[in-house]
Amino acid sequence: MQEKQIVEQLIEKFNELYGAEGPVSVYFAPGRVNLIGEHTDYNGGHVFPCALTIGTYMAVRKRSDRKLRFYSMNFEGLGVIEDSLDNLTPKDNGEWTNYPKGVIWAFDGRGMKCDTGLDIALYGNIPNGSGLSSSASLEVVTGYMLKEQYGFDVTNVDLAKIGQYSENNFNGCNCGIMDQFASAMGKADHAIFLDTADLSYTYAPIQLDGAKIVVTNSLVKHSLVTSAYNDRRNESHQALVDLQKVVDIKTLGDLTEEQFEAHKDAITDPVARARGKHAVYENQRTIKAVAALEANDLETFGKLMNASHVSLRDDYETSCEECDILAETAWEVPGVIGSRITGGGFGGCTVSLVKDEAVENFKETLTRVYQEKVGKTPEFYVVSIGNGPEKLA
Ligand code: GLA
Repeated sequence: MQEKQIVEQLIEKFNELYGAEGPVSVYFAPGRVNLIGEHTDYNGGHVFPCALTIGTYMAVRKRSDRKLRFYSMNFEGLGVIEDSLDNLTPKDNGEWTNYPKGVIWAFDGRGMKCDTGLDIALYGNIPNGSGLSSSASLEVVTGYMLKEQYGFDVTNVDLAKIGQYSENNFNGCNCGIMDQFASAMGKADHAIFLDTADLSYTYAPIQLDGAKIVVTNSLVKHSLVTSAYNDRRNESHQALVDLQKVVDIKTLGDLTEEQFEAHKDAITDPVARARGKHAVYENQRTIKAVAALEANDLETFGKLMNASHVSLRDDYETSCEECDILAETAWEVPGVIGSRITGGGFGGCTVSLVKDEAVENFKETLTRVYQEKVGKTPEFYVVSIGNGPEKLA
């Protein structure tokens, strides 16, 4: 669906649910795909994501009481869910409303209190559970909406921090800041080279002469993703704590590969050592990849993407059989520059750089092999890089 059509349908639904009296505003925030720099964002390393043109659309109108009413066109069966500004606690059934509520709660905790409630209707065109950050886009669109509706004085970087804070402390996922930052700070046709140690960043133009970014959805999501994610975070923290006994560093992102090799025996647990290795090498790969892109050396960029996948598969163990099949099959297709699992992992999507003339063969080959080995048909999205949050109506 085109954006104009989405906005029209969302407003129509909104009026049907909540009545047509009074103005309705519509906001949008994008999802993201990460090109390289995976599981480095909570290890003080670099990431290189870009915002997508798909994301979350939110229609709102302020109320005169303190009620909150939520409706999602993606979960129509749940109907209108009622809540209140006086009850800013998460529901333990993991319902989607925990994300916008968490952001309202995080604003509240910073002294930015909503004086009245809201009616909210939502539509998202990011496939759920695909690892393209539907939750971060929901957090960022909520924050952006609150800023506009209540006049709160926050920057887009603040929106990223608030989104991450609410996801960590309200929703119980110890995520880093990459997804919220990519959504809040997105810029069309650019990827964001972000140093998560201090949040300094630059925009890198993505002009892939003769190539496309293709996202492939494995359509699998393995269970216990949040707990497995939090485990990885704890294991890499253990690696850091052990290393700090022998070398003066603040984060794993402070180390070069050589320094890691010289000190790695300080990490006693072999699992933590492998996690630490990934974090250090992946950060260095990301720095090298951005330099390669600047030098127009796509081939090197692609090789670093492939190496990233291998490291996520073997050392960080956040890939899965299905995504391994997608990436490893892609590596064999002529015209594929690089391919790797993207995002938190344990399912979701791969991201591939594919030469224009190879895209059709890429899709055909991956479809055939995936059907044979997994019995499913993967979905493909040829990605456009979009802007951060905006008001659409
Ligand atoms: C998830 C998290 C991010 C980041 C990635 C892995 O998307 O939300 O903070 O850690 O996983 O790179």
